[in-house]
Amino acid sequence: VRTPLMFEYQLLERARADRKHVVLPESGDDRILTAAAILLRRGVADLTLLGQENEVRARASTLGLDLDAARVVSPTDPELVERFAAEYARLRAHKGVTLEEARGRVTDISYFGTMMVQLGMADGMVSGAVNTTAHTIRPALEFVKTRPGVRSVSSVFLMCLADRVLVYGDCAVIPDPTAEQLADIAISSADTARAFDVEPRVAMLSYSTGSSGSGAEVEKVRRATELVRERAPELPLEGPIQYDAAIDPDVARTKLPGSSVAGRATVFVFPDLNTGNNTYKAVQRSAGAVAVGPVLQGLNKPVNDLSRGALVDDIVNTVAITCVQAQTL
Ligand code: ACO
Repeated sequence: VRTPLMFEYQLLERARADRKHVVLPESGDDRILTAAAILLRRGVADLTLLGQENEVRARASTLGLDLDAARVVSPTDPELVERFAAEYARLRAHKGVTLEEARGRVTDISYFGTMMVQLGMADGMVSGAVNTTAHTIRPALEFVKTRPGVRSVSSVFLMCLADRVLVYGDCAVIPDPTAEQLADIAISSADTARAFDVEPRVAMLSYSTGSSGSGAEVEKVRRATELVRERAPELPLEGPIQYDAAIDPDVARTKLPGSSVAGRATVFVFPDLNTGNNTYKAVQRSAGAVAVGPVLQGLNKPVNDLSRGALVDDIVNTVAITCVQAQTL
């Protein structure tokens, strides 16, 4: 039995055990400052905030927060801007980016924070309490790029139910994945599950189980399942499969007798973003699950996006997740 509280406790303990350095670009948001103070007090991470030092320190003192241990870096620091611009222009030369354009781009806090990670000045970045998903992750897509063997960046939510943790992917990034992208999502989601102590048994979800249904959407999932079997033959996998057959042993016995995954799946791969995004929200809002994420996966270095509705606890958890990812990458 693994309750949501146990999951959060273990997560923070793991981050503390091998402390990493995370950059938080959105220092203008009080939730970020409050989360930063909690993270520092509990020794979960070392932190850099982006902003003007006097303003950040003044706001912290107004809020009664101890942020003495945080570094504050100005995203307009001329030396850093010059260095980051040169690096950005170099990495994006194939797109025709000039040094002048690069200078403008890297003063955007998402680019600035991501460049700190790229250059090893921080181990990871967490942003998105104020900015959109696209704004937060585009710099990482442009130059942090994907890990060897993975072509697409995707995401999972760690769904903390009353007694266990399930992994749902992709619920936040790729709107309409191809079979190849769906295979990437499955393999990355299994890796992320392992990283957070969930033994992966992967269900490739569809409105059809086994060979019962047909249609282009089912074919896509069937093809993706074959691709995963080729690329990761040792991974316990079933698909296409419906959610009930994936989760419920009784339904599994009727619909897919003999399957080692049906009825006991832990990783659920949705066929597209409409299904994935609405399903995670339905389980979160109507079944009381704690949804931790989105956890971005497939990148060379960890960058994570917050929901604009994020609570202070969500920010604390996301920073801890980023630290654990940095430990294992
Ligand atoms: N994996 C790897 N690289 C990618 C990916 C991906 N999934 N998507 C885009 N890229 C790369 C492109 O190849 C391109 O690289 P290049 O510039 O070197 O050629 C670069 O990123 C920019 O590509 P665009 O096609 O311009 O992508 P854009 O930045 O417009 O969009 C994004 C990417 C933001 C991920 C988009 O797919 C998106 O908006 N997804 C949905 C996000 C969303 O609304 N989620 C739901 C809400 S989140 C929630 O509810 C928690």
